[in-house]
Amino acid sequence: MPLLSVQGLTTGFLTAGQFVPAVIDVSFALDKGETLCLVGESGSGKSLTALSIMRLIEPPGRIEHGRIVFKGRDLLQLPEREMQPVRGAEIALVFQEPMTALNPVFTVGDQIEETLRVHGRATRRTARDRAVELLEAVRVPEPGRRLREYPHQLSGGLRQRALIAMALACDPEVVIADEPTTALDVTIQAQILDLLRDLQARLGLALLLVTHDLGVVAEMADRVAVMYAGRIVEESPVGPLFSDPKHPYTRGLLASIPGLVPGRRLKAIPGTVPAPGTLPQGCCFTPRCPSRFEPCPSAHPGITDFGGGRTVKCYLHGRAVEPATAPPGPPPHGPVPQPCPEQA
Ligand SMILES: Nc1ncnc2c1ncn2[C@@H]1O[C@H](COP(=O)(O)OP(=O)(O)OP(=O)(O)O)[C@@H](O)[C@H]1O
Ligand code: SF4
Ligand SMILES: [Mg+2]
Repeated sequence: MPLLSVQGLTTGFLTAGQFVPAVIDVSFALDKGETLCLVGESGSGKSLTALSIMRLIEPPGRIEHGRIVFKGRDLLQLPEREMQPVRGAEIALVFQEPMTALNPVFTVGDQIEETLRVHGRATRRTARDRAVELLEAVRVPEPGRRLREYPHQLSGGLRQRALIAMALACDPEVVIADEPTTALDVTIQAQILDLLRDLQARLGLALLLVTHDLGVVAEMADRVAVMYAGRIVEESPVGPLFSDPKHPYTRGLLASIPGLVPGRRLKAIPGTVPAPGTLPQGCCFTPRCPSRFEPCPSAHPGITDFGGGRTVKCYLHGRAVEPATAPPGPPPHGPVPQPCPEQA
């Protein structure tokens, strides 16, 4: 049994009384000690998926369907008071922008110690020593001095390390890192990725790494889930994904990496990810897909399973149609907010 499995997750927003899905029937599993990268362009639903796992979706957002099974328990069924010890202690979230995740009016030390005390991992007396240990573990130089500083006194890289230290404070089994290096320059980014890899190996963490950067995926992932317009359209171990991408969207993303093929110029996929509520009726990628053909605009493709952990949703690889329980797209005459699947 995987440590964490997300099954048929559908999350969205109530807009003018109608449920508009932004994460649609998403399923994946994460084992102890492995890194799964969730990759896709901006607006594809990566952060909403991460927040759904933590049950941090706020109204008018809501989780409409699905199961999030962690160590045999469906987190979506837990009362909030039983979810609190899971959130932060067993499953920790590292955000993209450490300045918003850290409180500017408290020192870094106060914040790490508070996390330790709230989850009963240290007493007032032992918390400072543990905080020093944690900053050492994330390779912050002079941890004793840094603990007394405020977030604005640290560089971006050190702030991100402090945030990772906070995430590790309670020995979580799963770390969800949402674009942990996007705000950092390239050298610091490489150091933080190296740190995450090292921590993962030493602590046996399961890492769900959210990114829009296939360079990060190549460095970090064991497996990859490619997201487009709320759905996972391809899932694969990292090697085969790069050597033999199946989905036209994955192929487009790979072609857009500068330097992956020497001499090849950056080639962005023309067009943008459709916003929730404006999805085409058939395969969501149809308007941008260079390979589209006759079945594509009719209904969204279902899963084709190649074995070996490789799945794809695309009619080029089979005629499976998405089951009717998934939220449908709008009628062909134009985008309208999508109805709640239960009302459809
Ligand atoms: N509070 C909200 N209300 C309405 N729509 C929202 C809300 N939050 C997110 N969305 C929409 O849901 C979609 C998915 O958002 P999400 O933040 O998960 O994307 P993402 O893949 O994380 O993108 P990025 O790479 O930019 O972080 C987007 O179209 C976004 O505009
Ligand atoms: S189903 Fe059709 S439109 Fe969608 S990715 Fe495959 S070929 Fe392209
Ligand atoms: Mg995001």
